[in-house]
Amino acid sequence: MNPVRPPAPLRPRATLLHGADYNPDQWLEYPEVLEEDFRLMREAGCNTFSVGIFSWSRCEPSPGDYQFDWLDRIMDRMAAEDFYVNLATPSGALPLWLTKNHPECVRMNPDGRRAVDAGRHNFCRNAPALRQHVRAINTELARRYARHPALAMWHVSNELQGECHCPHCAEKFSQWLRARHGSLDALNHAYWSDFWSHRIASWTDLPRDYVLDGLLLDRKRFASDDMADYVDFEAEPLVAANPEVPIVTNLMGLHPQISYHRLARAVSLVADDQYPQFDAESPDFPRQLARSALTHDLMRCLKGESRPWLLMESDPEGRVLWRNYAKLKRPGLHHLQMLQTIAHGADGVMYFQWRKSRGAAEKDHGAVVGHYGGNRGRVFNEVAALGARLQKLSAVRDTRVEADTALVFDWDAWWAYNLARGNFGSQTPNTYVDVALEHYFALWQRGISVDVVPPHADLSRYKLVLCPMLYALRDGFAERLAAYVHAGGHAVLSAYSGFNDEHALWFRDGCPGAGLGKVFGVWLEEIDQPRPHERVTVRFTDGSEAQAADFIGHLHAEGATVLATHVNGLFVGQPCATRHTHGRGTAWFLASRLDEAGQRLFYDPIIAASGAAPALTNLPSGVIARRRTGENGRFVFLMNSTAETRVCPLPAEHTDLETGEHLTSVRLAPFAVHVLREP
Ligand code: GAL
Repeated sequence: MNPVRPPAPLRPRATLLHGADYNPDQWLEYPEVLEEDFRLMREAGCNTFSVGIFSWSRCEPSPGDYQFDWLDRIMDRMAAEDFYVNLATPSGALPLWLTKNHPECVRMNPDGRRAVDAGRHNFCRNAPALRQHVRAINTELARRYARHPALAMWHVSNELQGECHCPHCAEKFSQWLRARHGSLDALNHAYWSDFWSHRIASWTDLPRDYVLDGLLLDRKRFASDDMADYVDFEAEPLVAANPEVPIVTNLMGLHPQISYHRLARAVSLVADDQYPQFDAESPDFPRQLARSALTHDLMRCLKGESRPWLLMESDPEGRVLWRNYAKLKRPGLHHLQMLQTIAHGADGVMYFQWRKSRGAAEKDHGAVVGHYGGNRGRVFNEVAALGARLQKLSAVRDTRVEADTALVFDWDAWWAYNLARGNFGSQTPNTYVDVALEHYFALWQRGISVDVVPPHADLSRYKLVLCPMLYALRDGFAERLAAYVHAGGHAVLSAYSGFNDEHALWFRDGCPGAGLGKVFGVWLEEIDQPRPHERVTVRFTDGSEAQAADFIGHLHAEGATVLATHVNGLFVGQPCATRHTHGRGTAWFLASRLDEAGQRLFYDPIIAASGAAPALTNLPSGVIARRRTGENGRFVFLMNSTAETRVCPLPAEHTDLETGEHLTSVRLAPFAVHVLREP
């Protein structure tokens, strides 16, 4: 595996980035439209555009026939306007001549058949012909544009995804397995392959069925590593031509199939695409906001510590084609969504897309400029108003979000849980994320900032570490968590944590395994998963009650103090939540899945004991504060997540960054966000 690409700062300009995917290649026959685009871009307060993402067939209409005149004109115009370009390599969609001449460039399904050749995001990352043609066009792009004044970063391909089962990929996977397991005996043990007579006798002759959880986990890990390797491959000529330009590839938030902890190794700056459903009229709205917040916090931490990142794609309108319905964003929600992103550490927000296409597959998708063009539209005006606000918030650029709480998030644990439940579970494939969100939500609601980190992160800098549902533990994690608690930390572990080792083999010392039972002072004997929506009452020691559902753990306190007990159900009288002192720290365990009230009751003493603190205290309910800190100062974002006006008292006089007003309290309109400079 190649080394980790060091993080790179955004290129020099002290403003927040604001922009969109821009596809002038669809409009080359309409010069008046291109002219209007540049006028509207200025009017919308936009400054950065992703160009060329799907323009291979324009740049190379037939093999070796490079046609960059149109791109030269766009790049030069961008520079003249003082705009930035996030210039894409075009492999996200292959030109038809390539798939016709080299069908092997298209991914192979497990059944040995090729995916359909049109469309996009369907290429085999390891086909020699694919690599040869990608290398050639990337080299041309680098030669022409690596030192162009408009170039801000390279956007490698688009939303990398998918697994391929062709012989090239199979060979690469077998090399990956050799490096990981060393011998076939070790591999067979790790996969427990005597089960259903699945012993593996050769590195290349692997079963393609669903039986061996360990193998399926390794396939997913490999696919993510292979994507990172592919980014390295694409980046080589780009970096050689100018090492100063950051390498990004657009991620897809909490993607169920790709470990971004692995893929992020290959980028120098994190860029993410997010299309959340924001429906303020739904009772679920706070959780929708919190889910976005969690995703942001994960992105911010992907390069090792809290770092500026970019929202590369989002829908300005609320018209996301691939959802069941397309509820347009209600007033205030667009600014709330974008400023929440900045509050969580992003240094730029961008859209898919600048202008709606006239035809083909996504012509009805949200965009800044609609089919009627011009600046008349509601969406355009919301975007332009945001652009004007972002210009006044430039001081925030390059500041960091600080957190004294971490939530350990691990794709391996997600996959391991899904695999273990796979054949008979009624749970959705997103249960892992839902549970992580429930724990995150308890802190989010209180305005406590959280870093969402991988298991290998340094835990010692946190006051509190949450480990929801870490089904499979990476080698060494249990020891590091134990040492963290022993040294004075506070750790939370929840049901379904510590069941398996990193090969998805069950621990043999009880749950939670790998010695964590002693750290937490508990043994989780079994878990009841009753009918969906069946409730069990849980009573805390102060008499408060809450409900549990979905997972009801049969927990034994073995040294831990009981904080809450099941009042009915199969495990009546047995503990639900516990606290245990280990060394100088405290280990908290939750055996069942609690409702929101229960999570609050569970977390009250944990937050008090750990000292994890919100950015501001005494805020009215539904107002969330986040802080960014840096050389330019300390800034607090106050976000009203409710449809009512809220008045927030401030502990000292703050300055409104947009109006310059000095304030001792802030009046927030419904869904409004204010950014304040702290004294
Ligand atoms: C993204 C993709 C864009 C566009 C968008 C529509 O996943 O990168 O090209 O298709 O979805 O929501």
